[in-house]
Amino acid sequence: MQYDYNKVIIALDTPNEQKALQTVRLLKNKVSIFKVGLELFCSQGPGIVKKINDEGCKVFLDLKFHDIPNTVVGAAKSALSTGAYMFNVHASGGREMMKNVRKAVDNIDVAEKPIILAVTVLTSLDDSDLVDLNIIKSSMDQVKSLAMMTKESGLDGVVASPREISAIREAVGKDFIIVTPGVRPTWAAAGDQKRITTPEEALDAGASYIVVGRPVTAAPDPVAAFDKLFE
Ligand code: C5P
Repeated sequence: MQYDYNKVIIALDTPNEQKALQTVRLLKNKVSIFKVGLELFCSQGPGIVKKINDEGCKVFLDLKFHDIPNTVVGAAKSALSTGAYMFNVHASGGREMMKNVRKAVDNIDVAEKPIILAVTVLTSLDDSDLVDLNIIKSSMDQVKSLAMMTKESGLDGVVASPREISAIREAVGKDFIIVTPGVRPTWAAAGDQKRITTPEEALDAGASYIVVGRPVTAAPDPVAAFDKLFE
């Protein structure tokens, strides 16, 4: 099967602007979306988004907003003014917050509508962590119900681990974006990622995009590593 490299988002997990931009320049003819997370954003500020846009690439701003509706709406507007194409909030911030973000983004006059995602349950939390939070559902049931709430609130999709993809697809149908980190080609080290699948397995299970970081960015030759993601 031929896999679509446009479905690959490269995570720029470094505090260093030069290193991030070097990765963008190496891969920009192959990748259209790069992920800027808390590490790079907190070290370089919103200017990094513009610099990546200036290279002709889109940015997934992975800052996982979680606050009262008014504050998240303001953060979303600021995120979009940086030029982000995709950003996310925590679904556990609530229905009202997600609906208000949807409304605010719809009222912004931009050429291309940004993609708004929600994080359901952080993959670092297991069922016993949920018990600590007084959540009596299993993490899979909690993921599914937060994914449904995300869809009902009008957002475009969720960030989900590979093992959650099929259950989410079943719950929310096919017109919903699922972005999946935690993928590893067979030749790459798992590092701290648990419950990994290969890029092919994640796409076959129904992921709309996969997020790949270290297997490409930490490789001695990132371009060669990118080219063999599906091998
Ligand atoms: O280097 P690696 O491929 O593990 O990078 C995966 C990226 O996806 C990192 O930026 C990580 O923070 C992010 N991520 C994740 N698992 C989640 C959510 C985000 O690995 N559940």
